[in-house]
Amino acid sequence: MVRTALDQTAIELTNIQKSFGGVKALKNVSFKINKGEVVGLLGDNGAGKSTLVRCISGIHQPDSGEIKVNNQAVNIASPLDAREVGIETVFQDLAMVPEFDISANLFLNREIKHKNPILRALGWLDTKAMDKRAKKALNRLNSRIPSYKEAIHNLSGGQRQAVAIARAVNWGADIVIMDEPTAALGVEQSAQVNELINVISSQGVAVLLISHNMQHVVETCDRAVVLYQGQSVADVSISDVSKEDLVGLITGATTQAA
Ligand SMILES: Nc1ncnc2c1ncn2[C@@H]1O[C@H](COP(=O)(O)OP(=O)(O)OP(=O)(O)O)[C@@H](O)[C@H]1O
Ligand SMILES: [Mg+2]
Repeated sequence: MVRTALDQTAIELTNIQKSFGGVKALKNVSFKINKGEVVGLLGDNGAGKSTLVRCISGIHQPDSGEIKVNNQAVNIASPLDAREVGIETVFQDLAMVPEFDISANLFLNREIKHKNPILRALGWLDTKAMDKRAKKALNRLNSRIPSYKEAIHNLSGGQRQAVAIARAVNWGADIVIMDEPTAALGVEQSAQVNELINVISSQGVAVLLISHNMQHVVETCDRAVVLYQGQSVADVSISDVSKEDLVGLITGATTQAA
């Protein structure tokens, strides 16, 4: 996938390190993502991908290193901090309540309270306002979801993924991180997720995509960063490499040519 990423940095990581006891999960990881760019984060099991995502999304604190968002150094001490600087993460379990409808899931933990002060005090929510925004968020993604009033458990895996992505971008995220978004999906549904990634990146959102699926990576990403035993060992433009090259970098069989 080649798209015109903007030449403005959305997020930049410099020398990120993180250890768990004696295990050095991340050793000096550095890379950046431009606005509108889709970067694949690749690496074998245990390479450090999830640890890095947790450092960016405020679940872990890096031991050292710097994270800059829009060229400003940020301290992401909690998931709320991540959200405040415009980073949203779509985790693998999608963190949804299956019995609730789409609208309620889009506003999970961020419900809009009722305008009437008495009803508000009674804990009533402004479902009208939430539904209106839910409709807008889904329209923005051109997603094939029947209705925002549909319960999550009636949706397919791909549609659930679409709701999770809609939820991320609904909050005005500039940076969206996706952990294996198509791992459990069929061909048609994976294609839908790819389409969504194209839509949000064309709107200027920077995307970090973790995937073990090289086909998905070459179809969706502009660039790939490869982690090997906690180090960023390659940062390559997708148009310069084959799937086999990527596999070689992931397994450590080859190293990036200087
Ligand atoms: N909370 C933790 N406590 C101790 N060690 C951890 C913790 N989280 C990760 N690690 C270790 O850090 C290293 C990197 O793990 P991480 O989960 O980031 O890998 P990954 O690239 O996401 O792998 P996978 O593709 O299997 O998901 C591993 O050696 C792992 O055992
Ligand atoms: Mg992982």
